[in-house]
Amino acid sequence: MTTPRDHLSELSTEEKASLTSGRDFWTLKPIERVGVPSIMVTDGPHGLRKQAAASDHLGIGDSVPATCFPPASGLGASFDPALAERVGVALGVESAIEDVAVILGPGINIKRSPLCGRNFEYVSEDPLVSGVIGAGLVKGIQSQGVGSSLKHFAANNQEFERMTMSSDVDPRPLREIYLRGFERVVTDARPWTVMCSYNKINGVYASQDPWLLTQVLRDEWGFEGLVVSDWGAVNDRVAALVAGLDLEMPGSDGAPDRAVATAAASDPAVAAALDASAARVLDLVGKAQARPAASGPLDVDAHHALAREAAGRSIVLLRNEPVGGAPVLPLAEDASIALIGEFARTPRFQGGGSSHINPTRVDSALDALTAAAGDRVAFAPGFAFDAAADGQDALRDEAVALAASRDVAVVFLGLTDAEESEGFDREHIDLAAHQLALLDAVAAANPRTVVVLSNGSVVALPFADRVPAIVEAWLLGQAGGSATVDVLLGAVNPSGRLAETIPHRLEDTPAFGNIPGSLGHVRYGEGILVGYRWYDARDIAVTYPFGHGLSYTAFGYGAVSAAVTASGDIQVTVPVTNTGSRDGREVVQVYIAPVASVVERAPRELKAFASVEIAAGATADVVLTVRREDLAYWDTRVDRFVVEGGAYRVEVGASSRDLRDSTAVDVAGDAIVLPVTPESTLAEVFAHPVAGPMIAGAFAAVQEQLGDAGDGIMSGDAMAKMLGSFPLGRLPAFGWGVDREGVDRLIAAANAPQA
Ligand code: BGC
Repeated sequence: MTTPRDHLSELSTEEKASLTSGRDFWTLKPIERVGVPSIMVTDGPHGLRKQAAASDHLGIGDSVPATCFPPASGLGASFDPALAERVGVALGVESAIEDVAVILGPGINIKRSPLCGRNFEYVSEDPLVSGVIGAGLVKGIQSQGVGSSLKHFAANNQEFERMTMSSDVDPRPLREIYLRGFERVVTDARPWTVMCSYNKINGVYASQDPWLLTQVLRDEWGFEGLVVSDWGAVNDRVAALVAGLDLEMPGSDGAPDRAVATAAASDPAVAAALDASAARVLDLVGKAQARPAASGPLDVDAHHALAREAAGRSIVLLRNEPVGGAPVLPLAEDASIALIGEFARTPRFQGGGSSHINPTRVDSALDALTAAAGDRVAFAPGFAFDAAADGQDALRDEAVALAASRDVAVVFLGLTDAEESEGFDREHIDLAAHQLALLDAVAAANPRTVVVLSNGSVVALPFADRVPAIVEAWLLGQAGGSATVDVLLGAVNPSGRLAETIPHRLEDTPAFGNIPGSLGHVRYGEGILVGYRWYDARDIAVTYPFGHGLSYTAFGYGAVSAAVTASGDIQVTVPVTNTGSRDGREVVQVYIAPVASVVERAPRELKAFASVEIAAGATADVVLTVRREDLAYWDTRVDRFVVEGGAYRVEVGASSRDLRDSTAVDVAGDAIVLPVTPESTLAEVFAHPVAGPMIAGAFAAVQEQLGDAGDGIMSGDAMAKMLGSFPLGRLPAFGWGVDREGVDRLIAAANAPQA
């Protein structure tokens, strides 16, 4: 049987060029002459946005009904790749039924700042969580014979001027933070396509960056799929093609294809790039054709149930203090409830922009709670979304009166579509003043006040110590309302964890002052210290730390043990006991840091995690594997990841600031032998396997001479430090018995090929 790829050699240059850009907004061009069909690609990421009529990439026009699963900010909080994979399977099934070849997602950009308008579409501030959850989604989608498109590659961490801004990032944060999650998904889950981002990286458009699209993605990571542009991201089509961008979307008037064909006719490098890209497009078409015919119709109920389960698992119980002896949540079975807040009636369950799904149905908390608790529930909207709307005071007074008359008040607060969306960033992290004022009044009227938050990215919680319970309910997809009620009533025991820190103030956040940049550049001045890495390194108090999340039961941790395996990974084992009376899930987290390092390190970094179901009273021996490569830092001297040898601290706990036990392991390091040059410092020369022993005697003599001359003013230690940063080639100038020839001999011997 022939595949589309078999036709490559039969195609004219113009036909090949025609494959490298779309036919329209969502489809690729067919080549009917040889039987290559057109395929469809479409958004993504947490549901299918297949537009039948008017097309746009802003989520404006209508699309076919599809299940809206929790956006990534929710699903990421599950810390559960198996759940993400099940959601991925469902996304694949829905795509297949609609004959969509590739669904455009997941998005796994790092949440560098809470201000990014698109954080709701991204997983975490941490590359491991982003990569693991992203890989789960990709595996699930592609198990159904549908491709995924991992986006937005790369360093697209804000919306302000996203189509032109240069993300100016140093090599270490770029590799260790911003690319690491992408690397994991590419190598673990092999997405069919990767979508390049709009922005520039260090001055070069991602769409035409050969370093990014070819050297890193293909040569280093072994990516064999297709690179598609973000919609409208291509600046110079020929440069992009040569850099490794296979497919430009959406289709335009044919001008890019003509430019490519003309350049290919006269430039062999362009012709070769065109052949490679046309082949990849044909491969993609071949993969899409290989999918077995999907049998519809969509099982709307089953997918809604999965959306509800996933939403329940994404909810993070931030706080749950006792009032009158018992924690406020779950709500007592006979409690009368004042349900307050427009979000309870009109849920905000997804974000604005290209990911906007037309849901098959929508559950509101008001309907779900009324169905479960009947007459015990009374509702008051409390506020109108539009702060400037008339009648806010009357709405507030009505809600406060209701709160005062009930056993418990549950207040839904959050961000509106106007406050966060694709396409622009927030300017602050505060909830609207009228919502905060309502909460203050309700909490004064009823000591049992529960706050439920609907937001795509974190908000400041100035009331955190003034209300007994807070539920972070993100944007949870179409079943978010019922899932939230499941948690409020205790049908679901919460197990979500913060995949992003909740800071006290915007001023405390790592990118503050740098973001959103100006004059076309945004400087990643915080370097590797992103998210909790920053708050821990700077010892900054936060409202709730990364990894935090409570349960209706409690978990006790036993002694941690860790050992290096034959393959060099670290295996960590810890017994975890459910000490409460309800079954529940614990997210066990492993944080690691080398005890000493030649480069700046965060105090701790998440290197493994597991979401584990543990029955009441039971103990689970949780085994987690830390991959050796995840211990590495990016060494700018040799341009590769390097694992340092030595002791590593292994901390295990329930959040980045709730570490229950720790141990240490010794790790064998990667050998890096740098050439010795006149610029090598004496410390580097000392560490060199050949030059080190050779110079030891001379160094001691110099130290002695200096010690004598200085009358012992400087301690031996201080002297060693001072000399350690001396360049080798400068020694002869000081006349310490080291001459130029001696230095040259040392350099030659050190750099001679070793037997
Ligand atoms: C977004 C992508 C999306 C594409 C197509 C772009 O504006 O950045 O995430 O997949 O539009 O709608």
